[in-house]
Amino acid sequence: MKTIESIAKSLKDKKIILRLDLNVPLYKKKITDPNRIDKIIPTLHFLINNKAKVLILSHVGRPKGKVIEELSMEPICEYLKNKMNQQICLIKENIYDFQEKDLFSNKNENILMLENLRFYNGEEENNEEFAKILASFGDLYVNDAFSCSHRKHASVYNITNYLPSYAGIQFISEITALKRITKNIVRPITCIIGGSKISTKIEVIKNLISKFDNLIFVGGMANNILKNKKFNIGKSIYEENCEHIVEDIFNLSKKENCKIFYPLDVSVGKKIDGEGNVKKISEVQEDDLILDIGPETLNLLNKTIENSRTVLWNGPAGYFENENFKKGSLEIAKKIVEKNKKNEIYSVAGGGDTVAALNSFDLTKYFNFVSTAGGAFLEFLEGKELPGIKALE
Ligand code: 3PG
Repeated sequence: MKTIESIAKSLKDKKIILRLDLNVPLYKKKITDPNRIDKIIPTLHFLINNKAKVLILSHVGRPKGKVIEELSMEPICEYLKNKMNQQICLIKENIYDFQEKDLFSNKNENILMLENLRFYNGEEENNEEFAKILASFGDLYVNDAFSCSHRKHASVYNITNYLPSYAGIQFISEITALKRITKNIVRPITCIIGGSKISTKIEVIKNLISKFDNLIFVGGMANNILKNKKFNIGKSIYEENCEHIVEDIFNLSKKENCKIFYPLDVSVGKKIDGEGNVKKISEVQEDDLILDIGPETLNLLNKTIENSRTVLWNGPAGYFENENFKKGSLEIAKKIVEKNKKNEIYSVAGGGDTVAALNSFDLTKYFNFVSTAGGAFLEFLEGKELPGIKALE
């Protein structure tokens, strides 16, 4: 894989198409955790110091080909402007309406940003025409979005057919760290899977079972398991048509000797910004939202973590953004940190929301490795060839 560092000397005056993953959590158009932006600052400095011009491409959220104002790159561009201490213009014009010559017409402008790529259907469709247009804006392509490399999207995959393509600094550092981890991993291994991106993760989990000793389902992921076990999950999120995958997960776990854990009790609310109420899983009502795990579940998870040598954590245990539902994620983090400080465990966390939770608890620094990637992290662990990596190779 060719890296930007290997071509530092030839970057002068080149227009770089830089794919980043600036998919940070937003609440009412405000960034709630800027970690993914902070991580790529060295890449931007590197390109600017080598006198390149940079056009940033990213997505945020899942607007599915529609322009959704709440998912504009505006707050992200503002944040980056302050961090870089320089002007960065967000191009809101439709990309089909302008040309390369319109970009960087102001000589003092070094960085530009395109509006959310997922406002266009072509992005997720990996559309050739769309990729060609993106490529036409620059001389070189750089992917510094490892956390998007599991997506065969136009700005990750097809674009590499039209420009010399390179890996960015953060991309290489994530791959290097994850390779080291997968090589040196020590059993018993516990994987904690939570969060709300159920469709992204559930299929991957099936393929990972043989690698784990314990598999703990929390957060939105657990709801599918609970529903499958015929518990009432009220109004909680879950993914439809996953029954067969859940069945497969249980069957495989028996065959592979991997223990599965899911909530015994939960904290429910009537709305996400409301108060919490602990209930046994059999007591959940039609109008309840499951928003965290309960104390009995935590107890069980702590015992499992206590007996593990490696913990991989992807996806929070609840809606940690609300103080009333952060206990599950916080206590899991504290237990891992306690073991880590005694050097009794190797801990890896991944995914935008997990990292945001750890940052909000100020515990990120006590983990052995924290990846910006969620879905990509799991698929890498699975040993799958990721489209974004394949394209660069
Ligand atoms: C992520 O947050 O994992 C990446 O930005 C990819 O987002 P997606 O799951 O919406 O494709």
